[in-house]
Amino acid sequence: MAEEMRFGIVGCGVIGPHHARAISGLEDARLVAVADVVPERARKLASEHGCDWHESASDLLARADVDAVSVCVPSGEHASLAIAALEAGKHVVVEKPVDVRLGPIDELIEAQRRTRRKVAVISQHRFDPASQVVHDAACSGRFGRLTLGTAEVLWWRSQEYYDSGEWRGTWELDGGGALMNQSIHTIDLLQWMMGPVEEIAAYTGLLAHERIEVEDTAVAALRFANGALGTIVGTTAAYPGLTARLTVHGDRGSAIIDGDRLSYFHAASEEGGGRAYGAAGGGNQAEEVMRSFEEQAAATAGADPSQLSMAHRSQIRDFIEAVREDREPLVDAEEGRKGVEIILAIYESARTGRPVRLGQGQK
Ligand SMILES: NC(=O)c1ccc[n+]([C@@H]2O[C@H](COP(=O)([O-])OP(=O)(O)OC[C@H]3O[C@@H](n4cnc5c(N)ncnc54)[C@H](O)[C@@H]3O)[C@@H](O)[C@H]2O)c1
Repeated sequence: MAEEMRFGIVGCGVIGPHHARAISGLEDARLVAVADVVPERARKLASEHGCDWHESASDLLARADVDAVSVCVPSGEHASLAIAALEAGKHVVVEKPVDVRLGPIDELIEAQRRTRRKVAVISQHRFDPASQVVHDAACSGRFGRLTLGTAEVLWWRSQEYYDSGEWRGTWELDGGGALMNQSIHTIDLLQWMMGPVEEIAAYTGLLAHERIEVEDTAVAALRFANGALGTIVGTTAAYPGLTARLTVHGDRGSAIIDGDRLSYFHAASEEGGGRAYGAAGGGNQAEEVMRSFEEQAAATAGADPSQLSMAHRSQIRDFIEAVREDREPLVDAEEGRKGVEIILAIYESARTGRPVRLGQGQK
């Protein structure tokens, strides 16, 4: 790889320009070319960033001066395009979800191993300071035995949103609705903090939209492998659109992330006191733990702590470092697979009316 990582972006719709800005803001990355089957979109993004443009992904993949490719096309085309990029010798950043079916995701994982390239799957909220704080606390046992985890995404998407692209709201290319497209971020955080999900029972509904095939509302009850219980509530039918909230609870502490910010945190002190009868709410330590995290992060990130808030950029920086250090990115294809597996199990449970155990070979 050259001194700087040279990027290409395939797909210049809503999220492609976001990748372009994230890449352009990194000093050791450069945007070399973009591609879109709708040429005006590629031309426009290229002119904004002073790079080349192509009408076809294969022309971009054929370039020797591209080290890494961001895959920003509709979700059901992710794995096939990512595999083509790996086979062309590129490292790959894939937008979420990594794909909408497990079969193509497993093929991507196999291609990544075979080509010995790196794959990062965008789950930018894992890089939010609040997510990092709660993940560290949950994994280091500060909340004691984990008992309950909840993910709630109470959003609104208008009918115009679904009508804005033919792929939106289709099983084939969107892979699902409120869960596969929108709630996947919070679901990924839930499983990252609580650990693997063992069993799921769920209902889904299409309640406030038309001309789409998929759910706009879903509820699920979960049992995690560690015995903890959980719930997932995801909707794009809660007008006018409220918050995305994640809660993690244990017998010695709890945390709430609301709208990407840590709104509540309490961990019992070493001396005990955490199990006092009716220790209602305890003291909210959120400000204190965030301050200490920001201080530590500023000390290690050095140059520019303000970049910490830019989650997409942080994830692409992690990807570049992973290539340099020959390690896996924080969210590789196997990590990206976990949220998709949970969502597909929710769909299966809703369809069959039965609980679904995970890891039973769904494709
Ligand atoms: N991480 C996030 O927060 C976030 C936010 C929005 C979208 N996304 C993800 O990004 C992906 C794209 O979503 P979007 O909202 O940008 O969609 P979009 O429809 O706005 O853009 C997709 C673009 O890809 C182009 N395209 C389709 N197939 C192509 C191909 N084979 N070669 C070249 N170009 C092709 C389309 O012409 C279109 O311009 C989805 O998977 C979505 O889930 C992620």
